[in-house]
Amino acid sequence: MEQSMNHNRVRMCVARLSLLLLSAVLLAGCGHKATVTELNIVPEPVFMVKKDGSYTLGANPSVCMVGLGQNSPTAKYVMKSLRSAHLHPSLVAADDDCDIKLVLNDTVNTEIGDEGYLLEVRPTGISLSANTEVGLFYAYQTLIQMLPADVLKVRYSSVSLPECTILDYPRFEWRGTHLDVCRHFFGAKSVKKYLDVMALYKMNKFHWHLTDDHGWRLPSERWPRLNTVGSWRVDRDDQPWGEADPPREGERTTYGGFYTREEIADIVQYAAERGIEVIPEIELPGHSSAILAAYPQLACDPDYPYTVAIGPYWPPKAILCAGNDSVLTFLDEVLDEVCDLFPSRYIHIGGDEAWKGNWEQCPRCQRRIRTEHLSGEEQLQSWVVSHVQRHLAERGKTIIGWDEIMGLEDGGWDISRPVKANNPLLDKDAVVMSWRGLQPGLDAARAGHRVIMCPTDYCYLDYYQADPRYQPPAIGGMITLQKAYAFDPVPMGTNSHVAANVVGGQANLWTEFINTPHHAEYMLLPRLLAISESLWSQRERKDWGRFRRKVEEQKDRLQAKGYNYCEGSFTPRFTARRVDDNTMNIAISTEVPNTYIFYTTDSTTPTRQSAIYLGPINLERGTHIKILPVYKDIERDSVYEFVIK
Ligand code: ACM
Ligand code: ZN
Repeated sequence: MEQSMNHNRVRMCVARLSLLLLSAVLLAGCGHKATVTELNIVPEPVFMVKKDGSYTLGANPSVCMVGLGQNSPTAKYVMKSLRSAHLHPSLVAADDDCDIKLVLNDTVNTEIGDEGYLLEVRPTGISLSANTEVGLFYAYQTLIQMLPADVLKVRYSSVSLPECTILDYPRFEWRGTHLDVCRHFFGAKSVKKYLDVMALYKMNKFHWHLTDDHGWRLPSERWPRLNTVGSWRVDRDDQPWGEADPPREGERTTYGGFYTREEIADIVQYAAERGIEVIPEIELPGHSSAILAAYPQLACDPDYPYTVAIGPYWPPKAILCAGNDSVLTFLDEVLDEVCDLFPSRYIHIGGDEAWKGNWEQCPRCQRRIRTEHLSGEEQLQSWVVSHVQRHLAERGKTIIGWDEIMGLEDGGWDISRPVKANNPLLDKDAVVMSWRGLQPGLDAARAGHRVIMCPTDYCYLDYYQADPRYQPPAIGGMITLQKAYAFDPVPMGTNSHVAANVVGGQANLWTEFINTPHHAEYMLLPRLLAISESLWSQRERKDWGRFRRKVEEQKDRLQAKGYNYCEGSFTPRFTARRVDDNTMNIAISTEVPNTYIFYTTDSTTPTRQSAIYLGPINLERGTHIKILPVYKDIERDSVYEFVIK
């Protein structure tokens, strides 16, 4: 079957906009009053019950705080956020009646733990309580999601909320979102916007991939060429990533940048105010073109003309020389700077895809293997990792590494080879991030490591999210929203001792094919919501049909906040069965239950007056079928065109 596409995004936007305008006009007619009846909270809370009553929040709500200082980050966040929703909150004393009451428990509620909360909407007012500030922050995120989606745009005089009780806490402590700022650089402002959407969906770890072949993004005073050289590459953004021409001799390096110390401090604080810990990743010993372009003396072959990489760079051959003591000094000093910049208990030290060809040829690396009585190059990587781990442990830090850090003789840079999960050189304190499937993580958990699951099959948000013929170029793969929703860091049947070591999971966003924040959002959303529900919500609270309905309401919310997102769930999927030489029987569906599919077979553009698909249809080969998906009365994204073959 062949297809071509008529991008009809503009039409969809017009449809959405007119719906929003229509509701705004209706609201204006009745004084911008809103009545909320449905709760579409993402991630799904542990316990939520709606009752018969309601509470009407006026435009000038009183807010009181019990146990929470009014200058605390959460208190300030709540007041600012209410103002951005066009409300005029006023702080009142805790013993007064108040519309919104924030309570930091003085007696710990053991049911909700460190991040959970209790939210109650009663006919007398709204109450949010938690054991910690972050718990209160999450309670407030839930409250925001109860308000109308367009509350940032429309000035409501009152919002009626249903009486309800929500008791909530996360399934996993590690709910990560990663961002690669090396393949493409994203400025501090867009990083903050990224953190905002993480916070909205209760994600709590920002894994900031700051160094790689394509650029070094950390400020360094001790090793300044990391910034003057390593942060910049030849600009090939006018060419598709996969086809970028190699740099020419003497060509200027104009693409890139790095964050200043002030920007990093600001981002770390901004994240902390949203319950997010920032974990920097410093890749070693591989993926180090940017380092070696700046300091070639740290390579096994210092005369090789290393450049900051552009475009596809595979296999990633640049590797630090493990036989050179200056490399250890370099790592120690750079990591000391990292420790100064990031308060996180964790430092991610990379460790993936370290190609060892240079080590095999390098006399210094071979000498190190002999003098340290190592079994070969793979164990030499473990030796480097151990050095770094000890150095960081002295500074109170715990390392995280990609699952290759478990590898001994096997594994290594070849991702198709298995990993042996018992590395005597690796301290059990090291946390393993399992990306080559769930198995390396389960093996590491069995060996006593704490594990974060981010298998490519479910968590790589640089993969396509719908039929590639209708999507902007991506790195490959296919993770639809439904597939991302199926992510479970602890598969059913996992031994409980192993399961206890799986601390959570993470969505990863590599940016080879993503060169603007706008496009990063498109790849992230709405799949982040699926990962969020997979990590926060209890397994038995997950329900694809309900989630999919909630996503629509959340998209309105995202749109109001200025986020870009993908409508890929509505891409038609076909199954074709041969009836006879000329005829095929075609079944059409989308990932979303209750999508109406309108179609034409006479080359005209389908509308809602066209034929509606009710079940498999027989079509002659050569027929052009054009499809318009409609969901909840909104035309979705595109008209899709296929030729029956
Ligand atoms: C990875 O995706 N190379 C961790
Ligand atoms: Zn070497």
